[in-house]
Amino acid sequence: MSANDMDGLKALIDELQIADPESGSRNWTEVRQFNLMFSTQMSNIAGEEGKLYLRPETAQGIFVNFLNVQKTTRQKVPFGIAQIGKAFRNEIVARQFIFRMREFEQMEMQFFVRPGAEMEWYEYWKARRMAWHRAVSPAAKLRFKDHDNLAHYANAAVDIQFEFPFGFKELEGVHSRTDFDLGSHQALSGKKLQYFDPELNESYVPYVVETSVGVDRMFLSILSNALIEETVPDAQGEDSARTVLRIPPALAPVKCAVLPIVRNKEELVEKARGVFDRLKRHFPCQYDEKDAIGRRYRRQDAVGTPYCITIDFETLEDNSVTLRERDSMKQERIPVDRVADIVREKTDMLRLLDQLI
Ligand code: GAP
Repeated sequence: MSANDMDGLKALIDELQIADPESGSRNWTEVRQFNLMFSTQMSNIAGEEGKLYLRPETAQGIFVNFLNVQKTTRQKVPFGIAQIGKAFRNEIVARQFIFRMREFEQMEMQFFVRPGAEMEWYEYWKARRMAWHRAVSPAAKLRFKDHDNLAHYANAAVDIQFEFPFGFKELEGVHSRTDFDLGSHQALSGKKLQYFDPELNESYVPYVVETSVGVDRMFLSILSNALIEETVPDAQGEDSARTVLRIPPALAPVKCAVLPIVRNKEELVEKARGVFDRLKRHFPCQYDEKDAIGRRYRRQDAVGTPYCITIDFETLEDNSVTLRERDSMKQERIPVDRVADIVREKTDMLRLLDQLI
């Protein structure tokens, strides 16, 4: 039976009485071929359209540009090329919110190594990518899952899985892709994609270790873990419910909010506006004067703002403000002149990246 013999395959399923392992049902449809890629036509003259396909991964653009990048940026193997961009797949089941979509954003890196060095680099990138995910999500929600069946291009592959509300699922893939891609492009285009290694004094087609993560899927993992409802004491010490988005400060869309303690005191409002006008040039921040201060803190908690700056009567006397931290709700007094530096230092992406060293 050939791979495309759909009738033969159906006959085999019937003959062997193969049943759905979950439901036990043998009520199968005819065997059909799925279109996994999106096709379209290119040409502005009707009738002369050439069929082409939207890319199902960003990787191939990196492979065809491998020598361009290596030569123009004077790289030596080992080195990596990373890219972010749209990918398209004719998913059979596109569900679970933004977990699986037909159009999504991928971030991939192809890391070019000497043939034979791929397993060492594969282990290296597994550890590095896990360290990144652990810097933005709890370790208990992350795990490795080796692939049971390897893709035709791989000699090792692992998923970094995340525990979504619907169970542990793939978040990122790390694959040792051998020289399959560069080798295939070379064979089919007839153009050499070899690298001359000055240390070995020989040319070869490099092996590749790939890391591949969906931006949307990572966004979902971080959001689904961060949104929490908890009970905390209010200003009177009574139990009160709050919704808080415990997103890492470096990823928070709004870094701080400036809040005058009351809005009917012109001097206070003017001072708060001045602080906000200065801060908004440094990072995304919000100004809010509506409702009681407790409600305004809750509003910022719910959208994940890591810091609130409160301007009160003391500010008018000594030029200090209250800095309130979202997760601990702890408050400390700091000079107005230090606010921008302190908030920047606490919310800086570098602080997150430093955890990876
Ligand atoms: N270049 C290898 C590759 O594309 P993949 O495991 O098919 O490997 C890599 O995809 C990552 O892309 C996945 O771990 C996931 O984060 C993301 N991804 C894949 N298909 C997706 C889809 N339909 N919707 C959203 N993200 C998707």
